[in-house]
Parts: sequence; structure tokens; C-alpha cells
Amino acid sequence: MAERLQKVIAHAGVASRRHAEELISAGQVTVNGSVVTTLGTQVEPGDQVAVNGVPLTKEKLQYFLLYKPRGVITAVTDNKNRKVVTDFFEDVRERVYPVGRLDYDTSGALIMTNDGEFANMMMHPRYHIDKRYVAKVEGIPTNLQLQPLREGVRVDGRKLAPAKVKVLSRDNGGKRTAIVELTIHQGLNHQVKKMFKQVGFPVIKLAREAFGPLTLDGMSAGDYRKLTHQEVARLKEMAE
Ligand code: URA
Repeated sequence: MAERLQKVIAHAGVASRRHAEELISAGQVTVNGSVVTTLGTQVEPGDQVAVNGVPLTKEKLQYFLLYKPRGVITAVTDNKNRKVVTDFFEDVRERVYPVGRLDYDTSGALIMTNDGEFANMMMHPRYHIDKRYVAKVEGIPTNLQLQPLREGVRVDGRKLAPAKVKVLSRDNGGKRTAIVELTIHQGLNHQVKKMFKQVGFPVIKLAREAFGPLTLDGMSAGDYRKLTHQEVARLKEMAE
């Protein structure tokens, strides 16, 4: 099957799709020995693609679920040398990167892959993949006080899609906190924290317990596991 040149380069793990486009435009890419600068050029499986004279070898597509611990940045590098999610994948030959992001102080389920197409599908708001979070919040909300979250609260001037919300426990002691489960399918920056802040219950601690059908059952913070073919297929199906 013919594929777009920038996609082939991105899949080989040499560059992101955007960077691949820049390499092509800059004349650094050859197909069967000839420089190609047209974005979207179709290449066939047998074609020899090279970047700066180095032939591509196609990477195997890999899909993992990481139980991201708190205190780790969702990025592939950090200029302050803090721990990043790719540090957990040093034994994996392919260059995997995170699908979406979890905050530095948020733990939980994070997909890591080198399949750019799949990553886009998982992140696009058009595709409704539920993410389930558990938050410890300051204060003890009544069901009524959380109702705006169920109806679609307004954050940064934008009305969000309705969330599923359930109070799991209330601590009426000295600290006055509650544990609340929240399921959303959007993935805006700091969305969960902003949603709770909006209704007056700031998040103290946040964890993502599920990404679609993927849960952290049997895993500890810092563990990762390969997704099964069925899980990958199921996620693609959900996104379609
Ligand atoms: N919402 C947040 O506020 N933080 C996260 O890490 C994920 C969702």
C-alpha cells in the first residue's frame, strides 16, 4: 500500500510528522536516490527512502500502557533534567512517545507508542474515548454542588461536555476532603483540575485510573506493559 512520505519517515521513528515535513521541504529526503521536496509524495513499500543519506528501516509499531508515577514529566526530554516518561522505556528499542499528557503531579494510565496515526486517533476530541480520573478534593461537595460538572461546566470561556461524576468517599474529620470519580472524554490541559476548581473544590491529588478499556489492574507506579492486539484493535474501534 502506498503511503505518504512524511508518514513513512515518522513511522521509522526518525522524526515527528511535522519535523519530517520540514526535512522533506529542506531537500534532505531522497526516494530511490532522488531528492523529493513535495509533501505528500506517495511511496510504495519497496521504495528506498533515506534522510540525509541514511536509509530508513521501518520500526515495529509498539503500544504500551505506562502507570505514570507522580513527579514525572510527560515529555521525551526535559531541559532541567527531571525524570520524563520515556526514561521508563530505555530497554525498548523503538522510540515511543506519550499519547496526550498527564500533569507532573498526576499519576496514572498513559499510553506510549511510536504509531503516530494511532496517537492522533486517541487524542482527537472528535473520538470519544472515556478517561476515568479519581481526585482527592478540598472540601466536601454535595451531589448538587457537582451537578454543573454533569451538565457541562464552563472553563476558559468554553462549555465542556458533560462528565460522569460520583463521590466515592467523604472525610468529615479535621481535613474535610472527598474522593470523587470523574469520567470525561475530552483532554484539554489541566481539564480535571480546572473543572473541580470551577465548582469550588480544588484538586489536592489526581490519578487517571482508566483510559478507555485500559485499567491499571495489577500494576504499580512505574510499571509498564505491552497492550495486546485485542486492546489496540478495541481502542481503534472506539475511535472510529
Ligand atoms: N486533567 C488534569 O487537570 N490533569 C491531568 O493530568 C489530566 C487531566
